[in-house]
Amino acid sequence: MTRYADFHRRSIEDRDGFWAEQAALIDWQVPFDQVCDYSNPPFARWFPGGRTNLCHNAVDRHLKDRAAQNALIFVSTETNQERVYSFAELHAEVQRMAASLQALGVKQGDRVLIYMPMIPEAAFAMLACTRIGAIHSVVFGGFASVSLASRIDDAEPTVIVSADAGSRGGKVVAYKPLLDEAISLAAHKPAKVLMVNRGLVPFTPVAGRDEDYAALREQHRHTEVPCTWVDSTHPSYTLYTSGTTGKPKGVQRDTGGYAVALAASMKHIFCGNAGETYFSTSDIGWVVGHSYIIYGPLIAGMATIMYEGLPIRPDAAIWWSLVEKYKVTVMFSAPTAVRVLKKQDPAALKKHDLSSLRALFLAGEPLDEPTAKWIAEALGKPIIDNYWQTETGWPILTICNGVEQAPSKFGSPGKAVYGYNVQLLDESTGEALTEPNQKGVVAIEGPLPPGCMQTVWRDDERFVKTYWSSVPGKMVYSTFDWGIKDEDGYFFILGRTDDVINVAGHRLGTREIEESISSHPAVAEVAVVGVADTLKGQVAVAFAVLKDPSLAATEADAKALEASVMKVVDEQLGAVARPARVRFVSVLPKTRSGKLLRRAIQAVCEGRDPGDLTTMEDPAALQQVKDLVGG
Ligand code: PRX
Repeated sequence: MTRYADFHRRSIEDRDGFWAEQAALIDWQVPFDQVCDYSNPPFARWFPGGRTNLCHNAVDRHLKDRAAQNALIFVSTETNQERVYSFAELHAEVQRMAASLQALGVKQGDRVLIYMPMIPEAAFAMLACTRIGAIHSVVFGGFASVSLASRIDDAEPTVIVSADAGSRGGKVVAYKPLLDEAISLAAHKPAKVLMVNRGLVPFTPVAGRDEDYAALREQHRHTEVPCTWVDSTHPSYTLYTSGTTGKPKGVQRDTGGYAVALAASMKHIFCGNAGETYFSTSDIGWVVGHSYIIYGPLIAGMATIMYEGLPIRPDAAIWWSLVEKYKVTVMFSAPTAVRVLKKQDPAALKKHDLSSLRALFLAGEPLDEPTAKWIAEALGKPIIDNYWQTETGWPILTICNGVEQAPSKFGSPGKAVYGYNVQLLDESTGEALTEPNQKGVVAIEGPLPPGCMQTVWRDDERFVKTYWSSVPGKMVYSTFDWGIKDEDGYFFILGRTDDVINVAGHRLGTREIEESISSHPAVAEVAVVGVADTLKGQVAVAFAVLKDPSLAATEADAKALEASVMKVVDEQLGAVARPARVRFVSVLPKTRSGKLLRRAIQAVCEGRDPGDLTTMEDPAALQQVKDLVGG
């Protein structure tokens, strides 16, 4: 047995012994009584009885040895700012933010919604929340008012932290009007909005509700806010993600299990050491940003780069110049970003000294072989694919080079990570597939390891129904991804089993987009599918039936209507969810019982065989789709 196989086996067979050892990687104020309480499956309670604090582990703990070392490196190529915070400075800023939140009435267990661009204050706000036991809920800044409103109503925040604007590709994106609109749409009204004014767009504060952060920060310049020790199982945050239904799910994470899982992953997967620099190009609005811009690197005592801007602006060398300047040892990005860089001159990478960099980790969507080969060659460094989900918070499949160096295989994120008992299940029977190279649903036997979701925020029933009930008679966690495993234990991910799509590494629910398009006054009915795209991995394509078909009678009419449908999606959900095309048909392909045949539409759009169509109501409907996409 290889060292890794043994390590993995022990994590499953001697679960408590294994995780008790990993738990020593973090500080506990009160030691835990038990490693894992799985007396009420599928709800796992990690390290019950223990008391700790995420912010303490990310910040305060390092003051003794590395107060003056870099902690947070903020680089914005949008506003041309660069600012480095040492651990001591980060500690001071987090306390100012924590004191400001407390002054606005935030208490332990309260939710704080963070709707912000990639600026240091967003990191301070997250850390300030976990410092005082408040539960943060970061909403990606690319989401617009309707998306934001549904998250406000679900999280019911006491305070929202926001900013006047973000900036993308040199264009200012005002956040404040979207936030105001979202609050007016939401049934829940936050008591206060804490505004960071970057001076990018003028705005009028709402009297009695909006507070200026600069003023509060000044008042609390010297206020000390000690960490609130919380139970290991205390929720640290919720993060909304898309699923099959239109309503986003609040993935709820604990405190102790998450801190341990991240600390262990920094050691065994990312091989990052204290005093080094980590650069993740994600956004704090996504799970990668939570785990590997903010908490993971800081818990490991590493400096973390927070980058606001595009990968190719001012030029395609920008990321590599940061690697050189800050001696980045570990980098994390998404295949989409690499595909963007691939279109640029590869000389950009060679201009800089990349000798500090040990590996580039990629995740969030399938890593295609040409992209993997191109970047491996261009960088001359190991490229490590890793597969996971918002729900798990850290990798399910990868190569754990910190345990044992192992080769990668093109197209495979690697093997099951320690702590995860990964199975492939037969779709119809739910039986575990034991032979290699059989296609099945990727599933995880409970308990999920530390760091994974505890439940769906305020909806235990939905947690059980959504994730643990897809196999009759068996309680097992479904990832909703298809996969196969080869004879060496390497998995290959083949795409989602549900209606979730992945556009440029952003996870979106097609149902959410359909709901938004349906609100357009001209639209009677719509189907949205994900279609393969060489740059973005997938793009959303919509097929809509109009209430009055004559509205799209001419090509010019159809174009104008398409643009107005896209505008609705932009305004409600955000440009991130905008379909690449909106096509008009007179009828949608459905089964005789009225179910939309999204898979058949998707297959036709991708030039594949749509499969068995015997249950289809009207074959002419699919022909229309074919004619439109030129199939
Ligand atoms: O379909 C899988 C795909 O992205 C989904 C999870 O997206 P999200 O919740 O945004 O979490 C991203 C965390 C990195 C998965 O269900 N996915 C993620 N990583 C990979 C992947 N597909 C193939 N290969 C990957 N490495």
